[in-house]
Amino acid sequence: MTTETKPPITKFNLVARLLHWSMAVMVIAQFFIGVTMIAALSYYPLLLAIHRPLGIAILVFAIVRLVNRLTRRLPPFLTTMGPLERRIASYSEYLLYALLLAQPLIGWAMLSAAQSPVVLVGALHLPAIAPHNITLYAALRTAHTVAAYLLFATFTAHICAVLFHTLALRDGILRRMSLWPSRNGQS
Ligand code: HEM
Repeated sequence: MTTETKPPITKFNLVARLLHWSMAVMVIAQFFIGVTMIAALSYYPLLLAIHRPLGIAILVFAIVRLVNRLTRRLPPFLTTMGPLERRIASYSEYLLYALLLAQPLIGWAMLSAAQSPVVLVGALHLPAIAPHNITLYAALRTAHTVAAYLLFATFTAHICAVLFHTLALRDGILRRMSLWPSRNGQS
C-alpha cells in the first residue's frame, strides 16, 4: 500500500483564481452600469441591454465558482489570522456567494414579474421564473436595490481586509489569488 502525501498548497486553484478576477471586474462594472442607468435615463435602454446578460453571466460564473469551491482543496488560512478573523472571513465569503447568486436571480424574477423578457442577445431570451404580478415586481425591485447595497458593503469590507493584510501585516495574502505562478513553482 502506498502512503502518498499531497504537497501543502499555498494558492487557490487556477479555475478559482481566473473566476475570482474575472468576476471582480464583472461585478464592479455591473454596479456602475446599474447606478448609471437609473441616474442617466437617456442611456437606460443601452445600459439595461448590457446589464441583463452581464447579470446572467455573473450568475453562471457564480454557480461554476461555487461547485469548484466545494469540490477542490483550499489553501489553509494564513497564520496571521486568528480564530475570530477566520470565522468572520468564512462567513463573509458565504455571504458573498449567497449575494452573487441571489442578486441576478432577483433581477431575473423582477423582470419576469413585470412580464418583460430577459433578452440575452438578439431574439434569445430566458423563460420567466416568476408569475406576472405587479405587487411582486415592486417587492423584488426593492429587494434588488437592498441586495445591491449589501453586496457593495460586503465587497468593500472584503477589499479593506485584503488591503490591511497586504499593506499593514505584509503577509502576502494576495499571492494566494495571484494569476502568475509563485516562486516555489506552484502554478
Ligand atoms: C450581480 C448581479 C447584479 C448586480 C450587482 C446588479 C446591480 C444593480 C443596481 C446597483 C441597480 C440600480 C438599483 C437602484 O439604484 O435602485 C440595478 C437595477 C436593475 N437591474 Fe440589476 N444587478 C444585477 C443583476 C441583474 C439581472 C440578472 C437582471 C435581469 C436579468 C437585472 C435587472 C435590473 C433592472 C431591470 C434594473 C433597473 C430597474 C428599474 O428600471 O427600475 N439586474 N441592478
